[in-house]
Amino acid sequence: PRHLLDFTEWTPERLTALLDNAETMGQVLDRPVKKVPALQGLTVCTAFFENSTRTRVSFELAARRMSADVVSFAAGASSLSKGESLRDTVEVLTAYKVDAYIVRHPASGAAHLVARYSGKPVINAGDGRRAHPTQALLDAYTIRQEYGSLEGKTVAIIGDIRHSRVARSNAELLPKLGAKVVLCGPATLLPVDLAALPGVTLSTDPKEAVRGAHAVMALRLQQERMSGGYLASLQEYAATYQVNDALLAEAESGAIVLHPGPMNRDLEISSDVADGGQSRILRQVENGQAVRMSVLYHLLVGRE
Ligand code: CP
Repeated sequence: PRHLLDFTEWTPERLTALLDNAETMGQVLDRPVKKVPALQGLTVCTAFFENSTRTRVSFELAARRMSADVVSFAAGASSLSKGESLRDTVEVLTAYKVDAYIVRHPASGAAHLVARYSGKPVINAGDGRRAHPTQALLDAYTIRQEYGSLEGKTVAIIGDIRHSRVARSNAELLPKLGAKVVLCGPATLLPVDLAALPGVTLSTDPKEAVRGAHAVMALRLQQERMSGGYLASLQEYAATYQVNDALLAEAESGAIVLHPGPMNRDLEISSDVADGGQSRILRQVENGQAVRMSVLYHLLVGRE
């Protein structure tokens, strides 16, 4: 595929090649000089219409580590505030000879529009509640790093599934790599349509959800996307669904703990677990850079 918008067009073989290549990129990042010439002469634009820390910084570093020029477009400081449209904005950037776009946008489908308006390769860095494919890839990479393979593994994802592009992308990706996914949350935050995906089951019972799980992922309660009616109270949510020591004790012995970030500490995850020995949360962050280097390389240079 020319773009990474979601995983619809991606075969298990290509996805595995991406993860294998990320290991090579990780070796580059372990060197004293963390730079290769792979993208020399190419210009990558990070076009962020919604805030980000991890995705934006790691993509910019990933592109620079491969010697690309990087232009960072921040919506808040742009002429969008004067009423300029997304289409006109993308056409302006493309006129400056941008070779590829990395797009985050609050609207589902916005990355597809940038692909259409620009005619250039686009990587979706999170669109609304629809997809965040590089987050799911770095999650898969982190689980694979731990267990050697996703085959036969069970991943429980607990939290605000309804508003989560991370949950959707993991539910698409992990079964393609041989894992089972259990999505868990209160019924109001658990869209039933996701049960139609192969390898995915839903549960409103967190203890049932983590039983047999090799990885337990907590998701942020996206209060900015909840305009009312989804939760009776945050305290009640935490009492039942918080990923804490008691819940982790119900998972497979030694199960790893993931969170895409940013975290609401002591709401969807206890600080003890987030900072504990089974947590791989900072490992996820670290792996994000190597995985994003691999995606950029795959789309802009080739698949070897
Ligand atoms: N996980 C994630 O996408 O984090 P940022 O919003 O900080 O990029």
